[in-house]
Amino acid sequence: MIDLDVSTKKITEQKTRCYGFLVTDKGIASADLKACGAKLGVDVTVFLKQYAFEGKLMQASILPVLKGKELFHIIVVGLGKQDKKKALSIENYRRALAHLVRQVAVHKQKSFALQVPAPSLFDLSMEQIGQKTATIIHITSYKFDEFFSKENKKSIEISDVFLCVSSKDSKSFKKGIKIGEIVAQAMNKARHWVNMPPSDLTPIDLAKKAKAIAQKRGLKFTLFSEKQINEKGMGGLAAVGRGSDNDCQLAILEYKTSKKNAPTFVYVGKGITFDSGGLSLKPAVHMETMKEDMSGAAAVIATMEAIAQLKPNVNVIGITPLAENLPSGKATKPGDIVRFYNGKTAEVKNTDAEGRLVLADALAYATKHYKPDAIIDIATLTGACAYALGPFYTGLMSQHDDLVKAIEESALYSGDPVWRLPLSDDYAAAIKSDVADICNIGSQKYMAGSITAAHFLKNFVGDTPWAHLDIAGTAFNVPDRPYHGSGGTGVGVRLLIDLAQNFK
Ligand code: BES
Ligand code: MN
Ligand code: ZN
Repeated sequence: MIDLDVSTKKITEQKTRCYGFLVTDKGIASADLKACGAKLGVDVTVFLKQYAFEGKLMQASILPVLKGKELFHIIVVGLGKQDKKKALSIENYRRALAHLVRQVAVHKQKSFALQVPAPSLFDLSMEQIGQKTATIIHITSYKFDEFFSKENKKSIEISDVFLCVSSKDSKSFKKGIKIGEIVAQAMNKARHWVNMPPSDLTPIDLAKKAKAIAQKRGLKFTLFSEKQINEKGMGGLAAVGRGSDNDCQLAILEYKTSKKNAPTFVYVGKGITFDSGGLSLKPAVHMETMKEDMSGAAAVIATMEAIAQLKPNVNVIGITPLAENLPSGKATKPGDIVRFYNGKTAEVKNTDAEGRLVLADALAYATKHYKPDAIIDIATLTGACAYALGPFYTGLMSQHDDLVKAIEESALYSGDPVWRLPLSDDYAAAIKSDVADICNIGSQKYMAGSITAAHFLKNFVGDTPWAHLDIAGTAFNVPDRPYHGSGGTGVGVRLLIDLAQNFK
């Protein structure tokens, strides 16, 4: 992991030959930037003018300066246009900083110093910008190269970043850095699990990761084996797992705050370590990335680790139903009827609508055993959501406006954007069945596949305030975001952590 070093010394005094500046259209050639140029014997205003640098978002100008045999770089990246009345969005900072990190790596520099911009530009405190800075640097430099042979390993190898702030700001900035590092580690861990080949990360493997985290961080841990899942009447999870030689699992992590009478949250994450569709087999192209189908569970487990370290004033329980959805002689068949933990039954018309089956039991279990103040589930649930919202917004469905408001606020601040879809009762009729309480796919007439899927889940939470996050579009291979790269995104981790920290 990159070493983040907070320093109150001048940027030109840092032990590096690469200097990074993030500037708005109004802040081009600031005093700091000019002084940095002067120190290297160049006039930065000339070079920025020559490159028509206007401070546009992610516009980058790189000035190499050769002093004898030593090569220095000044890298200037735009933060966007500054409006007198409005602060810049935090997202501008994320993108500009991530772009800077990539430029440093592209130019093969092992370290750089960053002149941290004023947090007031983004309406943030010093601690908050510290948090954002650490998270962005660490997630941008994440890479998944475990399976490349030596000569093909990717080479973003920045080892040190010097973060320059004033001495009065340094303490709160450092505090933010610590939080941001915990958040980034959780995101990168979730991404790593998502990126692992599905045969190297089975339900049992992921349950073991959860157990190791619980032991390391002092969380209560409960695990149900496939046998126990059957005995407990979790017929949905059992039905999905039964086609595979790899046993299904249900893993539970519990964080308890020392604060009395604190509210309790449950996070439920879909953990299908591979989704072939089952007997309703997916076409090959749709199956290619289906190792991503445990992204919800990865987010929940990683979030629990961060929560154990950050110790918010709420109780948080993470529940992950884990299974592999495969066809075989033992697999669930279209037409089968399953009975869930809360006694309800569902006709399985399509074995590829398996996410709702495993979530149903987990939601029913959460509702019954914890009587929580809120449940939030996170799942790569429907292709329909990916089509509706694309890769930049997670679908949010809920009938609880207060919970929606809290989630929307956390989404904006944390950098995990959400977009609400209407979970109106009108759509409930779509999942009627002729032979069971409900059916696992919506009737064609109603379309809206993401909303009808959410209605299925609604049957398992009773009156508990509940929100559903569909991350089918946002969990994997998100384009254009300089902090993501390819593969898992760690979507939901920042949101769920922030929600626990700021819940009122
Ligand atoms: N895991 C998929 C949803 C998905 C699709 C996630 C694309 C990520 C990217 C889910 O289990 C699924 O197969 N859903 C079906 C539901 C349908 C059969 C009602 C779908 O969306 O096609
Ligand atoms: Mn499926
Ligand atoms: Zn699935």
